Amino acid sequence: MAKKRTIVYSCTECGAQFPKWQGRCTECGTWNSLVEETKSDRKKRSGQVKTKPPINIKKIKSNPLNRIPTGIGEFNRVVGGGLIPGSVVLLGGHPGIGKSTIMLQILGEVAEGTESTVCYFSGEESETQIGVRADRLGIDSDRVLISNENNVEGILSVLDDEKPIVAVVDSIQTAYTDEVDSLPGNVSQVRESAALLQQYAKEQHCVMVLVGHITKEGRIAGPKMLEHLVDTVLYLEGDNHHFYRILRSVKNRFGATNEVGIFEMTERGMQPVGNPSDMFLQERNEHIPGSVVVPSMEGTRPFLVELQALASQANYGTPQKNATGVDIRRLSLLLAVLEKRVGMHIGTNDIFVNLVGGLQVEEPAIDMGIITAVASSFREIPVDGKTLLIGEVGLGGEVRSVSHIDARIQEGKRMGFERVILPWHNKKDTQNFSGIKVERVRTVQDAFEILW
Ligand code: TYD
Ligand code: MG
Repeated sequence: MAKKRTIVYSCTECGAQFPKWQGRCTECGTWNSLVEETKSDRKKRSGQVKTKPPINIKKIKSNPLNRIPTGIGEFNRVVGGGLIPGSVVLLGGHPGIGKSTIMLQILGEVAEGTESTVCYFSGEESETQIGVRADRLGIDSDRVLISNENNVEGILSVLDDEKPIVAVVDSIQTAYTDEVDSLPGNVSQVRESAALLQQYAKEQHCVMVLVGHITKEGRIAGPKMLEHLVDTVLYLEGDNHHFYRILRSVKNRFGATNEVGIFEMTERGMQPVGNPSDMFLQERNEHIPGSVVVPSMEGTRPFLVELQALASQANYGTPQKNATGVDIRRLSLLLAVLEKRVGMHIGTNDIFVNLVGGLQVEEPAIDMGIITAVASSFREIPVDGKTLLIGEVGLGGEVRSVSHIDARIQEGKRMGFERVILPWHNKKDTQNFSGIKVERVRTVQDAFEILW
């Protein structure tokens, strides 16, 4: 008997379903989030439901988490030490960024370190393609199993036979379950497939890694609730013009978030970068006006990065403002401070600001760097190449204190910087530094007086 098909409209944010299209999801309030799907009546599970009796809370052992180290330090750092058996990890990133590469490398490393098998399910590449890649990455362990299966029931049956400790499903958008009628990649397919895989992971204590594509807006394609379902959400970032990649955790039930790992894409896969500051500063020319170095915290780790600004008289129409790697609204605010509090008349200039290397930094601690870079370019005077700038800038032109001051200074010292200009109120923490001159400032003008 043919299954009954019904059209439903699912919200990509919360997964709610509606019989009719509507502009706004009445469950979560998001606009334009409904997509049309065909839905067959889901198999009724009643009758075959196995219930597990509840457990007395005192009988649950609070085992220390036995993490599976992956053999790749930068990855371990991001997930909090290693993969947790029974957890589900979602790895998102643009196509071609290296998701499949890094996962295959990790499986290779895990297989080296254990007696168990690991499984890689690819719905996107042929076994031969994966084989060629594995060769290139130097993976040769009999315990790495490759499969082209993308039907979830098929995947589960392979998993039942092989009992791997880690399984990667690449990608969740190509996986589909027989329980839902719509096409792979549709909201309900992604949601149901992920739910079944998660259930398996929890029951069998297997690490389940779901690889996800991201949309133009930078979100993992499919329901937003996919991120709620999993334990850890990782993003692999970078751009096509640079070889390095940043692995970032945005959600982690078993560790800190916002830790990052830095890798370089080489012909032998993703190689961890031991000294990110060195990498980000390697092409710097110290004597150009508009170039400064700022220490930025990524998770618990400071990086030194170069900030560049170019202020040039706007000859055609309205002056432009352009920011790469820093928030454009923050830049506008800092330009207003420069105009009003410092008295620098930059209003008729085109202003371009670029955080070198394609990094994206949100923290206000780089304000002093931005404002100084613009002023340096405007005045055509370089900033001393061995000076670091730290501080958030307030609307009154005051320099406000920032977190992790010691770590930032220490990184500057390690990289051979000789002076650091920092907020006055950060002073009490910074007395123990020898070998680097600490200059405290209360306002942006104070800093400029020291510099020029
Ligand atoms: P891939 O892992 O397939 O990206 P994703 O799964 O995120 O779509 O990476 C593809 C790119 O990486 C491709 O352009 C080739 C390049 N690459 C290397 O530079 N070195 C390597 O060792 C490998 C395996 C891939
Ligand atoms: Mg891939």
